[in-house]
Amino acid sequence: MNAIYLKRVAEQDIERTCEIFLDKDAWPYEESEAPDYNTLRGRVHGNLDSNSILNYLICAKNDENSVGLAFIWIPEKYQKEIEIGCTILPSHRKKGYGFMATKLLLQYGFEDMGAHRITAECNAQNTISTRILETIGFRREAVFIERLLWNGKWTDQIVYAILDREYFESIK
Ligand SMILES: CC(C)(COP(=O)(O)OP(=O)(O)OC[C@H]1O[C@@H](n2cnc3c(N)ncnc32)[C@H](O)[C@@H]1OP(=O)(O)O)[C@@H](O)C(=O)NCCC(=O)NCCS
Repeated sequence: MNAIYLKRVAEQDIERTCEIFLDKDAWPYEESEAPDYNTLRGRVHGNLDSNSILNYLICAKNDENSVGLAFIWIPEKYQKEIEIGCTILPSHRKKGYGFMATKLLLQYGFEDMGAHRITAECNAQNTISTRILETIGFRREAVFIERLLWNGKWTDQIVYAILDREYFESIK
């Protein structure tokens, strides 16, 4: 049985969600900084019922507080492709939560939403994340050269993808 579950962010989760978004150590590979608290709160609130940005708290069954955030982005023109992402708070890393959260996002995307393709975008320096995606079965489909301005340096971005048939084959 999974040690974690994903909980769609609801009204009562807004504070905790903002807290994680505002934790600088939770986003070491992001090129942009979080907005100020009020802007962020407004965005999180605006996404509660969104059909295009789904925010989830990652909850550990043996921990009363959530351990990270997970996301599903659905393009406005939905062609059965979605993008996923997640972060685990530094104090909870290396326990398998990032790996499990990614698998749960795939399970939800393919089994519940009926997606045909799931993508994930990754800073090329983020080797923990690239290893997790590759271990799970994502294919490295593109490398965008110097697409991210990260820590003051132009950095490559990798786009990964996995198809529904590849996912269903992997869980047989
Ligand atoms: C990337 C991130 C989410 C990983 O989270 P984590 O909970 O520390 O990762 P895990 O503990 O699940 O995985 C760590 C390692 O265990 C491996 N692992 C974990 N569970 C596993 C399993 N069941 N089977 C095989 N390998 C497993 C992973 O492949 C990885 O390998 P490594 O030890 O060689 O690095 C985390 O470092 C993070 O939040 N980083 C900042 C945000 C970020 O980069 N998000 C991703 C953007 S694309």
